[in-house]
Amino acid sequence: RTVRIIGAPMDYGANRRGVDMGPSAIRYADLADRLAEADVEPVDDGDLTMPRAEERDPDADQPTDGNAKFLREVEDVCRRVSDRVAATLADGEFPLVLGGDHSVAIGSLAGSAREADLGAIWFDAHADINTPETSPSGNVHGMPLAAALGHGSFGETEWAPAPRLRASSIAYVGLRSIDDRERELLRESELTVFTMSDIDQRGVSSVVEDALAVATDGTDGVHVSLDLDWLDPKTAPGVGTPVRGGVTYREAHAALEALSRRERADDVLRSMDVVEVNPILDEGNETATLAAELTASTFGKRIF
Ligand code: ARG
Ligand code: MN
Ligand code: MN
Ligand code: MN
Repeated sequence: RTVRIIGAPMDYGANRRGVDMGPSAIRYADLADRLAEADVEPVDDGDLTMPRAEERDPDADQPTDGNAKFLREVEDVCRRVSDRVAATLADGEFPLVLGGDHSVAIGSLAGSAREADLGAIWFDAHADINTPETSPSGNVHGMPLAAALGHGSFGETEWAPAPRLRASSIAYVGLRSIDDRERELLRESELTVFTMSDIDQRGVSSVVEDALAVATDGTDGVHVSLDLDWLDPKTAPGVGTPVRGGVTYREAHAALEALSRRERADDVLRSMDVVEVNPILDEGNETATLAAELTASTFGKRIF
């Protein structure tokens, strides 16, 4: 099948400049060739154009009691990501969004959940479920799931909520940094949380099987969101918000390969984003290379 690569060099949602170079770095790491080796046909749409941060006021148009920096710019980009993702799916192709910071996922989730009941698997160190009202940082990359679920002031917007995504169809894999307000919310919510400790105890393959069960139950397809800070910073140093104690190189490959067991890949996976690669903080493009490799593993690349 055709995988359409949509570059979203967005850095408005993160506190570190440089993540906007992620799409170039991942392409430079031979993403297209690696996908071709996974037996899919990559088509590269190039990058969406971004407004220039230097000319923008991060505090324009803030929600009354909240803080969400560059929210207007994030909205503008996510609307376009959403339209591209929805159009790609309508053409029978697979949308692969390259970030950029994790706020691009607001667009990919909204686009992917327009015409289908969507499940999601969130590979991340962080829960990314702050609202502008609970965020300790004001960085929208810590908010995409809250936006998609219409929490807080996101619920008053029409662009942020993903139309057909329910909390009960979302599973996290590998969390290890949760803010206090996020923890309270997650305890009461229907999202499924698998932390690093679950991976330690049960192994990553079994955890991913459970996450898949959550995301496929009663849905039409699954969105995979891969934040490179999910991996241990020793393996993936090129990220803006590293947290030690993440998955290893082997665990990461095993997890994503589990998504593409031959019998299910084609009808289960629906859309994907690969985010938070920051080439300025990287060492020899190794995090971008890892991003490209893991994406190929998701589509079933095997060495034998
Ligand atoms: N929880 C923190 C915040 O909301 C960090 C979020 C990091 N998110 C990410 N996609 N890297 O500011
Ligand atoms: Mn349905
Ligand atoms: Mn993260
Ligand atoms: Mn994230």
